[in-house]
Amino acid sequence: MTLFPDTVSAVLGESILGRAAKKGILDIRCVQIRDYTTNKQCQVDDYPYGGGFGCVLMAQPLKACLDDILATRGTGRSRVIYMSPQGPTFTQETAKRLVRDYDHLVLVCGHYEGIDERFISACVDEELSLGDFVLTGGEIAAMAVTDAVCRLVPGVLADPACYMGESHWDGLLEYPQYTRPETWEGQEVPEILRSGDHQAVERWRRKQSIARTMDKRPDLFEKWTPEGEDKALLQEILAERAPKEERLDFDIRPGTEADLPAIMDIVAGASAFLREQGVDQWQKGYPAAADYRRDMESGCCWVLTVERAVAGVMALCPGPESCYEKLDAWQFPGPYAVIHRIATRRDLRGRGLAKELFAFAGDIALGRGCGALRVDTHPDNRVMQGLIRKLGYVYRGDVYLESGTEAGTLRLAYEKSLLSGEGETI
Ligand SMILES: C[S@@+](CC[C@H](N)C(=O)[O-])C[C@H]1O[C@@H](n2cnc3c(N)ncnc32)[C@H](O)[C@@H]1O
Repeated sequence: MTLFPDTVSAVLGESILGRAAKKGILDIRCVQIRDYTTNKQCQVDDYPYGGGFGCVLMAQPLKACLDDILATRGTGRSRVIYMSPQGPTFTQETAKRLVRDYDHLVLVCGHYEGIDERFISACVDEELSLGDFVLTGGEIAAMAVTDAVCRLVPGVLADPACYMGESHWDGLLEYPQYTRPETWEGQEVPEILRSGDHQAVERWRRKQSIARTMDKRPDLFEKWTPEGEDKALLQEILAERAPKEERLDFDIRPGTEADLPAIMDIVAGASAFLREQGVDQWQKGYPAAADYRRDMESGCCWVLTVERAVAGVMALCPGPESCYEKLDAWQFPGPYAVIHRIATRRDLRGRGLAKELFAFAGDIALGRGCGALRVDTHPDNRVMQGLIRKLGYVYRGDVYLESGTEAGTLRLAYEKSLLSGEGETI
C-alpha cells in the first residue's frame, strides 16, 4: 500500500523477483492508496490534531485500501505490516519468520508525518523498521523487506544453498568471494580456492566466516555460540592471533624407558583434548606405553624436551607401512618415513612444538635416504589436519588402520616431499 506504486513496481519487477513473478512463484502488487479516497480532491492526508509540521495520512483511505486487498487476496495466512521507524529492526530472522509463517504480506507505506494512529491500532499486526533513521516514506523499507523475504520463497533462487550459507543466516557473515581473473591489480585469489580440495575449501570458508564476523561485527560474534567443528576453528583463529610468546628453547633426542611416565601423561592430555573436541581418536587405550616401548627398541621414538622435561613425543618409522601401500594416490615413489603417535604437552599447546617435531622428522628422514614423509590423522581431527596442511602436507586419500585398538577405522593420509617444493609451508 503506497502513494508511489509505479516506482515500487519498477524496482520489484526487475531481475530475480521479476522473473519469479513471471513464473507465478510470487505475486507482488503495488496498490495506490489514493484510489480509495472518498473526497473529490482525492486527498489522502490532513493536518495533525494538536498542530505541528506536515500532514498525516488519513485512516479512511488506508482502511478502504486494506479491506479491498484482503477481500481479493484468496486463501492463506495474512499479515499486515506497517513500515515504521518505531518498529523493531527488520533482520534476516524476521525474513525467515515471515516466509515460514505467512503466505500473504501487506506492507503499508506511510508518508509525510506518518499515518493516523487509529489505523495502526485497528488494522496493523506488526510494525517493522529498516533501521534507526527516518525515511521520507515507507517505500524503500517495504522494497527491502519484500526483496529479503521473497528471495527465501522456495523456487525464487535456484537452490536453498544460495541463501543458506549467506551472511546472517546462522549468525555469521559470509566468507570472502572471488571470481576471475586469478590475479587482479597484483592481488591473487587465495591458493586454497584453486586447489580443488573441496573439504579444505569448505573449512577455509567457515574459518573466514568466523574470523570476519569477529572483526567486522563483534556485536554478532558475541551472540554466536560455536558448536562442533566451529570450536576447533575458533581455537585456531585465537591461537593464530595470540601475541606470539617467546620461542621456547628445546632439544630433541631419542626417547628412553625413563621418559615413559612423562610420555604417557602427554598422551593422556592429548586424548582428553580430542575427547573435548568430539574426536573419537586415542580414546581406546592407544597409544599405550607398549607402543612407545616398541618404538624405543626400534630406534623410532623421539622426545622433545623443554628445560630437560619431556614436552613432546613422536614415532618416526621407516616405510613401507602396510595400510599405506593399499593407496594408489601417493605422488613420491621411493623410500619414505611415517610419523606416528605425535603429541605435545597440553600446557605448551600453540607454542610451535609440534611444528618443530615435524621439521626434525623431515631432517632425520632425509638423512636416512627417504624422499617423503607420510602421516595420517582422524577425519574429525581438524586441528591436526590444519597443522599438517600448513606444514605443506597434501591429502592423498583415505586409509584404514590395520592393527591396535583402533584397527579398521578410517584415517586421512597426507604426504610431503622432502625433495620437491610441493605444498605451502608456514
Ligand atoms: C517521515 S516518516 C514519519 C516519521 C514519524 N513522524 C516518526 O517520527 O516516527 C514517513 C514514513 O516513512 C516511513 N519510514 C520512515 N522511516 C522508516 C524506517 N526507518 N523504517 C521503515 N519505515 C520508515 C514510515 O512509513 C513513515 O510513516
